[in-house]
Amino acid sequence: MINISRNKSITIEAPASIANLGPGFDILAMAIDGFKDKVQITIKPGSNKISIKVENSDIPENEDNVAYGVIKEAIRRYELHGLDFYVRIIKGVPVAYGLGSSGATAAATAYGLTLLTGLDLRPQDMVKLAGAGEAIVAGTPHYDNVSASLFGGIVLIDPITLKPYRINPIVEFWIAIIIPRIPRENKKTQLMRSIIPREIELHTHIKQSANIAKIIYALQFGDLKTLGEAISLDYIVEPHRAKLIPEYWELKKIALENGALGFNIAGAGPATFSIYKDKYSAQRIGMKLLRYLSDIGIKASLFITKISNTGAKIVGENPW
Ligand code: HSE
Repeated sequence: MINISRNKSITIEAPASIANLGPGFDILAMAIDGFKDKVQITIKPGSNKISIKVENSDIPENEDNVAYGVIKEAIRRYELHGLDFYVRIIKGVPVAYGLGSSGATAAATAYGLTLLTGLDLRPQDMVKLAGAGEAIVAGTPHYDNVSASLFGGIVLIDPITLKPYRINPIVEFWIAIIIPRIPRENKKTQLMRSIIPREIELHTHIKQSANIAKIIYALQFGDLKTLGEAISLDYIVEPHRAKLIPEYWELKKIALENGALGFNIAGAGPATFSIYKDKYSAQRIGMKLLRYLSDIGIKASLFITKISNTGAKIVGENPW
């Protein structure tokens, strides 16, 4: 039971993220600049009522909303009884394209909630709480997007302990994201997770692990060429998901042949991302990809960005 004498409110902003970074399914993600979700949480004395309002998007405002899942889990896990929760979500992250939209909302909600209620959570507990929100959308929890949105930068998440390991790349790179404007799949992440093989051969595991290790090496030593190579190689997930992304292999070929360092699916897709040494190359090749899609009648948008070194942060005690 939490006793508060007056209504308390906080507003948190959390960035979008690109999960997997190619081979690192469910364990690697990077926060990106530009797209952000804002979540305002107000708590009042009450009886566990949860009210959700969403702006800029038609996502559910009921128990199917990730924020609802996070709060429900927090009430259960930390016995936050005696409160009503009013949540206002302003969506800035495009929904269902693979840019960690649900993760950004879940991270902002988990962070805001812990600050408002004075819960002193370890990073892994915050990750777990935010993951409970993700589970609502993806069917099962996954912790990569929420970790990047919570802590910023590139995060490696231990899937057993949920401890996040933040990696600070010593070089910068630019990211070109292509978002194909195709109809939004209902329960897209759930679908994209259901088509992945449940078992893999030992030699596949060895090749995949080597690539993940190369990503960590490359980030640590600033080796962008190796980073790009490793990001582009995924033996497990990409071959299956690519089938559901229009022109995926052609886009990858064009990007890599024209100078992208690496290319892969953003999270569960259908957005793709490619990385570059400089902004000019990101724009030039990104435009080439857009033109290719437009010539065959597929509408898409290009977004050029960089890693966001900031994760979830307070943007107001009550700014609205
Ligand atoms: N790691 C998750 C997946 C991220 O690829 O399903 C979903 O955004």
